[in-house]
Amino acid sequence: MLELKPEEKAMLEGRQGKATRKAMEIITLLGEIYGAKRLIPVSSVQIAGVSYDNLGEPGLEFLSDMAVDGKARVLTTLNPAGMDLEEWQKHGINADFARNQQRVIDAFAKMGVMTTCTCTPYLVGNLPHFGEHVAWAESSAVCFANSVIGARTNREGGPSALAASLTGVTAEYGLHLDENRVAEVKYDVRTRLKTTDDFGLLGQVIGERTKQAIPYITGISHATTEDLMSFSASVATYGGVAMFHMEDITPRTTTVPEKVQIITQEDLSNARRALDDKDAVIDFISIGCPHASIDEISHIANMLDGKRVKKGKTVWITTARPTKDLAVRMGYYDKIEKAGAFLVSDACCAVAPLKGRFTGLMTDSAKACFYARGKNKFKTEIRTIDECIREAVV
Ligand code: F3S
Repeated sequence: MLELKPEEKAMLEGRQGKATRKAMEIITLLGEIYGAKRLIPVSSVQIAGVSYDNLGEPGLEFLSDMAVDGKARVLTTLNPAGMDLEEWQKHGINADFARNQQRVIDAFAKMGVMTTCTCTPYLVGNLPHFGEHVAWAESSAVCFANSVIGARTNREGGPSALAASLTGVTAEYGLHLDENRVAEVKYDVRTRLKTTDDFGLLGQVIGERTKQAIPYITGISHATTEDLMSFSASVATYGGVAMFHMEDITPRTTTVPEKVQIITQEDLSNARRALDDKDAVIDFISIGCPHASIDEISHIANMLDGKRVKKGKTVWITTARPTKDLAVRMGYYDKIEKAGAFLVSDACCAVAPLKGRFTGLMTDSAKACFYARGKNKFKTEIRTIDECIREAVV
C-alpha cells in the first residue's frame, strides 16, 4: 500500500495546480502497479521523447497542457531533439518540422526544463553521485547512471520522467532498491576490446543473451568513458538492460553469480557480421551515438583537417550543444565543417527526420545501426571511428 506524505497528497488533490496533479497521478499509479510503499525525492531528471518526429501533435498537445502551469522542481535535462536548434537549415531539415520542433522545445523551456538536448547529460552538468536517486529516461543514460556512476534510476518513459520533474519524487521500486540491483548472470569476456564499436558489439551480444537480467562482466582490462557509453547504449537497446556490473571498472555493489558464460572473439565477429549489410551503399556516415565527447570530436577534427568529404556522402558528428560550443572555441568545428562534414548538436541520426534521405549508414555505434534499420530502413555497416572517417573523405 502506497503511503503519501501530506505535501504529496496536496499535489494529488490539485492544490499545487493541474499539471502537478496530473504528474502525481502518473507517479502514484506507477507506484501502485509496482507495489511501492512510498515516494522518494529525486535529485535530477532526464526526459526523453523530445523529437517532433516521434511525438507528433498528440505528444506536443500533452506537453503544452502540462506547460500551462507545470514547473520543474529539480534539475531536469532533455534528450536529443530532431534537429540542431540553430543550424537546422544547412542539415536539410524542412521549415515545417523545424517550427513544430521549436514548439516542443518551447513547451519544455516554459516548464523550466533545461533544453540541453543530449543523451549524455552526465557530460554537460547533470551528473549525480554514487547512490543518488534520480529519474532518468533514455535507455543508454539510465544504464550509464546505474552502472558506471552507481546512481539509482528505473528506466523511465517520457511522461513518467516529466512527472518526476514536476513533483520532485518517484515511486520507490525496481532499481531504487538494493535487492533489485544484484547481478544475475556472469559473462567472462575472453577477447580484447579496443574501440567504441567493439564495446557496442559486446553490448549487443550480452544484451541479446541476457534479456533484461543484470549482467556481471569480467575480463575487460580497460574501458574509456566513451567505451562505456557505447556499451551502455547497446546493451540497453539489444537486451532492455538497465544496469550492469563490470569488474574493476564500475562500482562493486553486488554478489557475483556463480554460473559463467564465455564471450569469445567469434561472438563479437558474428555480431559484427549481423550488423554489416553486404549490399550497403554508404551515403551517410554518423558518429556520436551516444553523443560524442569533446575528446572524440578533437580526434575526428584532426583526422578531417585538410581533407574533403567525398561527393555523394553526408557526415554527421552529433553532440551536445555545450560540447559543440567548446568545439567552436577550440577550432574543431571549423576543421570539421571546412572538410564538408557537419558538427550537429541537439539531435542524432535516430531521432532526426531522415527517412528516405539516405540508403546506407556507416557508424561506430551498434545502437545507431539498430535504429537506422528499424526506423529509417537504411542498410548498415559498423566500423571504428577512424574507419568511418576514412570512408568519408578523399
Ligand atoms: Fe543518443 Fe540518439 Fe544514440 S539519443 S544514444 S544518439 S540513438
